[in-house]
Amino acid sequence: MSVRRLAPQELQPASFAFTAENEAWIDQQIAKYPPGREASAVIPLLWRAQEQAGGWVSQAAIEAIAARLGMARIRVLEIATFYTMFNLAPVGKYFIQLCGTTPCMLRGAEAIKDAVRKRVGPEHHVSADGNFSWLEVECLGACCNAPMVQINYDFYEDLTAESITKVLDDLAAGRPVKPGPQNGRFSSEPEGGAETLSDPALYDGSVVGSWQKRFAEEKEKQAAAKAAEAAKAAEAAKASAAAPVKPA
Ligand code: FES
Repeated sequence: MSVRRLAPQELQPASFAFTAENEAWIDQQIAKYPPGREASAVIPLLWRAQEQAGGWVSQAAIEAIAARLGMARIRVLEIATFYTMFNLAPVGKYFIQLCGTTPCMLRGAEAIKDAVRKRVGPEHHVSADGNFSWLEVECLGACCNAPMVQINYDFYEDLTAESITKVLDDLAAGRPVKPGPQNGRFSSEPEGGAETLSDPALYDGSVVGSWQKRFAEEKEKQAAAKAAEAAKAAEAAKASAAAPVKPA
């Protein structure tokens, strides 16, 4: 658990106002709740304020939201400081959330962290070109592709120190990057490709309803076995009727 405080005064803007477009969006959000329950929209508003400000929530934004929703400032501050999804200080154009939880740690998150530190600088620090900042976070739910990071809204997975450095270099240079696994793996399939459910018949429709055929065959087999049993019994009865009766 880390202490979360607002950014120092020298980083705080003098004021904050939502754009006209965001104001219209806010009206729609507030309208979702009954009168008197406007505070229910506080998280969407904080999120929108963060997006509008380039990735962080300032004191002025918190105050503007409190005024907009008729809330005490401390209530909005409590929420902004509680949820780590709200950044309380400026972040880089590319904000890196680096997962350091157990599966990622076991798969090499420390090496990723070293590479990011080397490329960007210390945690909570915006690089000199304004491009990057990073933060270690808890599990981001992509453990099957560990180790991974989230950069803005995208996940970059199956990373190595080399591949994360390349992703960051490409982002900085404006070259296209491809989110997802960085080792050629598709989604969370095994490395080298899928090893199960690989029979093409599973996908050409030929097995649709095959259970019905199997059931019919099973039924036929059972009927044939029953008929054979009945014939055998009839045969035995016939043989015993034809046998000569021994004199008493
Ligand atoms: S532990 Fe890293 S995504 Fe789950």
